[in-house]
Amino acid sequence: MCGIVGYVGKKHPKEFLINGLKKLEYRGYDSSGIALENEEETQIIKSVGKIVELEKKLQEEKSITATLGIGHTRWATHGEANEVNAHPHKVGRVTLVHNGIIENARELRKELEAKGVSLKSETDTEVACALINEYYEDNPIEAITKATKRLKGSYAFGILLEGKDKLYAIRKDSPLMIGYGEQENYIASDIAAMIQETNRYSLLKEGEIAVLDPNKVQVFYEEKEVEKEILESNLKEDSASKSGYEHFMLKEIMEEPTVLRNLISRYEDKDLPDLSQYDEIHIVACGSAMYVGLVGASLIEEKCKKKCYVECASEYRYKTVLYRPKTLVIVISQSGETADTIAAMRKAKENGVETLGIVNTETSTIARECDKTLLIGAGVEVAVATTKAYILQAALLSLIVMKTVKDEDALKEMKQIPILLQKILDEKEIFLDVAKSMYKAEDAFFIGRGIDYAMCLEGSLKLKEVSYIHSEAFQAGELKHGTISLIKKGVPVFAIITDPAIADKTESNVMEVKSRDAFIYTITNTEEIPNHGFRYIVPKTSSYFEPLLVVPTLQLIGYYTAKLRGLDIDKPRNLAKSVTVE
Ligand code: F6R
Repeated sequence: MCGIVGYVGKKHPKEFLINGLKKLEYRGYDSSGIALENEEETQIIKSVGKIVELEKKLQEEKSITATLGIGHTRWATHGEANEVNAHPHKVGRVTLVHNGIIENARELRKELEAKGVSLKSETDTEVACALINEYYEDNPIEAITKATKRLKGSYAFGILLEGKDKLYAIRKDSPLMIGYGEQENYIASDIAAMIQETNRYSLLKEGEIAVLDPNKVQVFYEEKEVEKEILESNLKEDSASKSGYEHFMLKEIMEEPTVLRNLISRYEDKDLPDLSQYDEIHIVACGSAMYVGLVGASLIEEKCKKKCYVECASEYRYKTVLYRPKTLVIVISQSGETADTIAAMRKAKENGVETLGIVNTETSTIARECDKTLLIGAGVEVAVATTKAYILQAALLSLIVMKTVKDEDALKEMKQIPILLQKILDEKEIFLDVAKSMYKAEDAFFIGRGIDYAMCLEGSLKLKEVSYIHSEAFQAGELKHGTISLIKKGVPVFAIITDPAIADKTESNVMEVKSRDAFIYTITNTEEIPNHGFRYIVPKTSSYFEPLLVVPTLQLIGYYTAKLRGLDIDKPRNLAKSVTVE
């Protein structure tokens, strides 16, 4: 979603701002802009569409001399994606970029308009900007504090104040960090935006105000200066490059065996949470992370014999949740910044319930706020559609279960999984052929039972989000209760059949759709399941590992289908990598 960068230092800010915004492109956006400031003037340049459009405008309009600037990629929430609504906004002496949503913007807008303030855009951001301007006489900290105390919702702000050669920043429920350079300092909503300049950073805590000039960074909390710990990131600058692949999505799928091997060596000898200590487990997450949760829940219930509920975080945060005395809430998130997942985690904490985070981004809110966090170490995942993070989240949940039930054989077997997965990925052209046979379809269905159904949900999501083919996943036995009316000649139906206990049952459901002329693609782990059109057999492993071998095949089918349809695979329409609004 939206991204923020800011610069103060010896150089012209333009280059850093544009490069930084490019590094944030993967998060999803529909307009962008920068503001440059010197002692006399502020220049704002914005454009709709990709950063290259902004670059073109920058070439046309001569930029002012400046050593101070902020930049933004906007994913529209309040008001459509146009130049007026794009950030930065300037009201009076305040220029501002914003990530998040101001929930009481409407009433604040009325209040400001009643005072004669005229606002140009439909955004909540301009309201916040005007509010800071209202409070700003000559004390920036006081103005920012007073204004932000009146805001409800989430925000990370990068702020320029006319006449002050400093950069200001504050955040609540939306990430923002400070980068430390030599005679230059930065702000960014994501470390990836500034890693090419510095790996020294600190995280801004809720309510802290940062004041940056080229030689100094000061941070204030409740108007008192506080010391910040400077951390070092080991993120590689080139981790955000395609390394010769045409798309990040394919590159990230192909990285799966390596990152899986790393995860195994990171955790095989470590103590992991013992699930047997809890009365029950809740898994909360969104999208693919929730579907991983379903895979995990299936294993937790089968192997640990523990009740495990999986809830989508946007529901969990508002529903009545009945906690048993010893409940563990497992929070799964690649970004660690998904607004609903953060809220669900905080709800558990407010109820005194233990939280365990399974997270990729070390610097994220969920990684920091969970009682215990296990990092999956996938590296940067740039493609909006998650692939390698899903595999690592599933693998880590399996490891937790194996350790809980002390399944030494499975722990040994797990070391072979990266090798088996590599073999599947080496045959990736098979899935290109699958895509060739169905990329013109309008609808697709995925059917399976139990853990296979959990995989179907992910396969279906992968296909629809990148290829825009309408796709649904069904519990195989449920299809005939209505949805089977959509099955007609040639419609692709993907059947996932790995669980021997219910393989015959799913196979009967396959026959039901086959008799209605659907085209059947089967992914299974046994020759015993017939080939009705296309069949791919993954190696048979214990149930912990089937998702690690099956889901990559579905990821490849989604990828190649989108490629044949000529789509923007890494940045599908309307989607954002990190969903920081509810
Ligand atoms: C789908 C996808 C999303 C995310 C979801 C949660 O490919 O990537 O469904 O899984 O938005 O995001 P995180 O894991 O960052 O909380």
